[in-house]
Amino acid sequence: MIAVTGATGNLGRLVIEHLLDRGVSPSDVVAAVRSPEKASDLADRGVEVRKADYDEPETLSSAFEGIDRLLLISSSEVGQRVTQHQNVVDAAVENDVEFLGYTSILRADSSPLQMAAEHKATEEAIRDSGIPFTLLRNGWYIENYTEQIDQALDQGAFVGSADGGRISGATRSDYAEAAAVVLTEDGHEGDVYELGGDEAFTMEELAEEVSRQSGTEVVYQDLPEDEYKQVLVDVGLPEGYAEVLADSDSGIADGHLYTESDDLHQLIGHRTTPLSEAVADALADRD
Ligand SMILES: NC(=O)c1ccc[n+]([C@@H]2O[C@H](COP(=O)([O-])OP(=O)(O)OC[C@H]3O[C@@H](n4cnc5c(N)ncnc54)[C@H](OP(=O)(O)O)[C@@H]3O)[C@@H](O)[C@H]2O)c1
Repeated sequence: MIAVTGATGNLGRLVIEHLLDRGVSPSDVVAAVRSPEKASDLADRGVEVRKADYDEPETLSSAFEGIDRLLLISSSEVGQRVTQHQNVVDAAVENDVEFLGYTSILRADSSPLQMAAEHKATEEAIRDSGIPFTLLRNGWYIENYTEQIDQALDQGAFVGSADGGRISGATRSDYAEAAAVVLTEDGHEGDVYELGGDEAFTMEELAEEVSRQSGTEVVYQDLPEDEYKQVLVDVGLPEGYAEVLADSDSGIADGHLYTESDDLHQLIGHRTTPLSEAVADALADRD
């Protein structure tokens, strides 16, 4: 049995899609979720839905009963994640889970990004657990940007602190496919993959691509990190999260979300989705 945590999230749903596409029977897949009521569509397809709240260790203990291979999708609750992820690792140990995959961040062990600290601690907890593991060190999702296209078209600009830094973005689906590969294939135990798109892009190139395809001019406006943080606070993000995001954005300027690794391409066995295609899909979805 394969279990995927965070399976009601964007990435988790795509991992389950890719598992099923790879021929795994729905009855061999467990969607381990905080909110089972959000997963009725998965249950309708024959996937077993079990309650698994990172903050409630007893739910994790029962959710992982009989699970051989587990994917821990990092929690979206930045600041709470070391404890939450430790709870998952402990429940995996308790249930003799044979393999644990984890969605981390590029170069988690050496990255100076504030965002990387919780991933680094989680990677250490996984190594300490003794469970055979694969670390999927994901770069940025292209959707971080395509989900802002409406707003960028309205305002005529993307804003950030990335300066001219290059971003090895890939779509969630490509990262999800890589996760499905390591969950269904032998031979990835102990591997640490640095995952990013084949074609890195700058924010200026993103703005040019959106302008070209939409026919509406959009520019990239670079801001000092503290001003960008304030923009994020002004649109409603909590102060602490805004700080972590602005720190990541200025980390882009220093190359911390860029990789020359082709691990993602190699794992999924095809080129990653280019920015132009992701932008085209996002614009088509608006129509
Ligand atoms: N690489 C990147 O660019 C990037 C960008 C954003 C996030 N991330 C990271 O990647 C993860 C997956 O991305 P995503 O797009 O799928 O995020 P998402 O759509 O926000 O999904 C997050 C998932 O985490 C679950 N979750 C949150 N708190 C939980 C808890 N206490 N117990 C159990 N589950 C909990 C949510 O459950 P509910 O459905 O119940 O809310 C949801 O299923 C994120 O959580 C974050 O760590 C990466």
